[in-house]
Amino acid sequence: MIKENLNIGLFGFGCVGEGLYQVLNESKLLNASIKKIVVKNKEKERNIGAENFSYNKYDILNDPDINLVVELIDDADAAFEIVKKAMEKGKHVVTANKKMVANHLEELIEIKKANGVSFLYEGAVCGSIPIIRNLEEYYNNDCLTSINAISNGTCNYILTRLDLEKASFAEILKDAQLSGFAESDPTLDIDGFDSKFKLSILIAHAFGVVVAPDEIINLGIRHIKEKDLTYAKEKGYKIKLISQARKIDNTIEAYVIPQFIAKDSYAFDINFEFNGVLIEAAFSDKQVFKGKGAGAFPTGSAVLSDISSLQFLYDYEYKKRHQDGLQLATDFLIKIFVSSANEKSLNDITLSTVEESYTSKNYAYKVGLINKSQLTYEFYSTHPELFIAVAAD
Ligand SMILES: NC(=O)c1ccc[n+]([C@@H]2O[C@H](COP(=O)([O-])OP(=O)(O)OC[C@H]3O[C@@H](n4cnc5c(N)ncnc54)[C@H](OP(=O)(O)O)[C@@H]3O)[C@@H](O)[C@H]2O)c1
Repeated sequence: MIKENLNIGLFGFGCVGEGLYQVLNESKLLNASIKKIVVKNKEKERNIGAENFSYNKYDILNDPDINLVVELIDDADAAFEIVKKAMEKGKHVVTANKKMVANHLEELIEIKKANGVSFLYEGAVCGSIPIIRNLEEYYNNDCLTSINAISNGTCNYILTRLDLEKASFAEILKDAQLSGFAESDPTLDIDGFDSKFKLSILIAHAFGVVVAPDEIINLGIRHIKEKDLTYAKEKGYKIKLISQARKIDNTIEAYVIPQFIAKDSYAFDINFEFNGVLIEAAFSDKQVFKGKGAGAFPTGSAVLSDISSLQFLYDYEYKKRHQDGLQLATDFLIKIFVSSANEKSLNDITLSTVEESYTSKNYAYKVGLINKSQLTYEFYSTHPELFIAVAAD
């Protein structure tokens, strides 16, 4: 039974906002319509009439007829203010802003509870893949043991092309920017920040622990060298940027680091802009989701699904929150591969055991265990000569 008619106030009419507008128009089943759209730039040409738009956020926030705010802007700080105010005014909120959700999740959950509204964000993680609602509803117990994801389409697109072509990282990145797969400032994507925002949201729904993104280590793909790709090919591996969280006793070991992926892994066949998620649970064993991780329609369809579930007053219940004693692990060992064109620079990183090492005139690497606490983004960003990846098992 449908419970609510939804009068939508939409913030943002860019890639996802316009995508949502179109998918909403195509959907006949929904009892929802967009009453007003707030955007920023008065000079921009739009594909629909000017009467739909406003530049004043209070035209939505102060409108008592609007009962749902859909927030699809590209400014996480402004988005947080909008979302907070909307919920305080008793409006449900749907967003796709992973940075905003990951950085403020604890506070947002409290605000939503205090105001008795729903707050949904399926589009924030892995585009069209329905992962959050699955973690909330299907895996609503404590049997889940691990979650492993390719959650950044830009990195996966670049890594796939590097695997297939002779072109350099810089050339492929430029091409990806021109064809809209990468932002003009690619830092959030290629240095793994975007993936860790998503991982922190996944951890909240998979394990019930709200983890600040700053607590998760992210080493991106920027330092990859041609010889690393050759090494991977010779061994029959691909390199993928993987977000991983694994429950070990009462801790969660989490990181975003490139990994060497063998042929029998689900991740081997997740290519180009596609995303994939592998869930492992005690009794259901392994399950894989694959789909388009970004773009107007894939993300628009995830937002549409949130809107549609709101007609039935759906909300996340965070059922696994406050499981006894479960917390993020600060200290654990990871088996890594570290390479450099200059053998001496490998001494800048201390492995606790070395299982394999190789040196030639212009390339050297080591494989061994390292304590996660030694791997920091600050260290990595000041050592561009090193490429670090999780070694294959
Ligand atoms: N693109 C994707 O594939 C994708 C996938 C998953 C999640 N997301 C998330 O979805 C959100 C939107 O991304 P997008 O790619 O659609 O961004 P976008 O194409 O850059 O569009 C951003 C929109 O936000 C509007 N805007 C910016 N600041 C505003 C403000 N203070 N008040 C009102 N409107 C404002 C812009 O207005 P103007 O039109 O006037 O410039 C524009 O319409 C982001 O949080 C992003 O992380 C995107």
